[in-house]
Amino acid sequence: MQPLREQLMTRLMTAKGYVSGAEVSQDLGISREAVWKHIRALRREGFVISASPRKGYLLLNVPDVLHPWAVVPLFTGGFGRPYHYHGVLSSTNDRAKELAHAGASEGTVVVTEEQTGGRGRRGRLWHSPRGGLWFSLILRPGVSPAGIHSLSLLVSLAVVQGVNDFLRICSELKWPNDIFLGGRKAGGVLIEIGAEAEQVHYAVAGVGLNVNITSFPAELDAAATSLRIHTGKETCRARLLGAILKTLEDGYSRWCREGFGPFREEYKKRLCCLGKEVTVSDAGRLTGGVILDVEVDGRLVLGLPDGGTLRLSGGEVTVREGRGDDPGA
Ligand code: BTN
Repeated sequence: MQPLREQLMTRLMTAKGYVSGAEVSQDLGISREAVWKHIRALRREGFVISASPRKGYLLLNVPDVLHPWAVVPLFTGGFGRPYHYHGVLSSTNDRAKELAHAGASEGTVVVTEEQTGGRGRRGRLWHSPRGGLWFSLILRPGVSPAGIHSLSLLVSLAVVQGVNDFLRICSELKWPNDIFLGGRKAGGVLIEIGAEAEQVHYAVAGVGLNVNITSFPAELDAAATSLRIHTGKETCRARLLGAILKTLEDGYSRWCREGFGPFREEYKKRLCCLGKEVTVSDAGRLTGGVILDVEVDGRLVLGLPDGGTLRLSGGEVTVREGRGDDPGA
């Protein structure tokens, strides 16, 4: 059973026009005075709701918050339920791992407005101020740890597809799971697992997207961008999250049945550095070559200067100086 305020928001968000106060009070099983009390509380949170004694209530504007009242009514499937919302957290991945460890179900999402200890791949800090979209999704795929690599590609592909469909832009991927816009990094995915040798108990897919961020610290400024900087417009993060979770849920259920194969061509189409000369840094080793392919298990196929090929499961790709516009963020 949804909490009352979520039920009320679902009614307001899905209505074609005004919703009558009498109908809402009957559907929710509360008095008309109680409905009015909830409307006033929503207004205090920044929701703009017109109230007319004859016509009822009309939702005119939703604030850019990721509060469950604003977001959960937008979810169409199982992802996002339960939905754990925080104003500030150290890291949504850390919280999601605690929840997963305690038995939280697949589809559970942890969201925060701001992270104080956001983490990126390779132990980096992840700059996570207000205005971004920082969330982690708990998954329980029945695979071995080796099967997780292609899941991280699948998640980043779903994020790019969700963003592009929602905003009508062309964000791209940099292997394995960076989200790029105009040659700069706009987001990334960090997958962490709880597993034994043969069995993954849970995977936490952490997604960071620079949405309504207008500036970056000096050390990130040349390499990073946001949807706001790229499009010049604010994006409704609640609706964007709904769109991403929908794409992700559809893609994930197919990936569970059929693996990465059906997504491979689509992933390669969105890759910004296919066919380019790159340097890949992996565990302190630098390898130069041309990106030839991505395998069905998610490994990168690099063509080497001596004519050989190398398959890589991890690493940081940088397009070679003077041969592309990738700053290697
Ligand atoms: C990368 O290095 O590109 C991956 C960045 C992933 C950042 C996200 S933000 C939400 C989640 N919580 C974290 O601490 N990290 C991930």
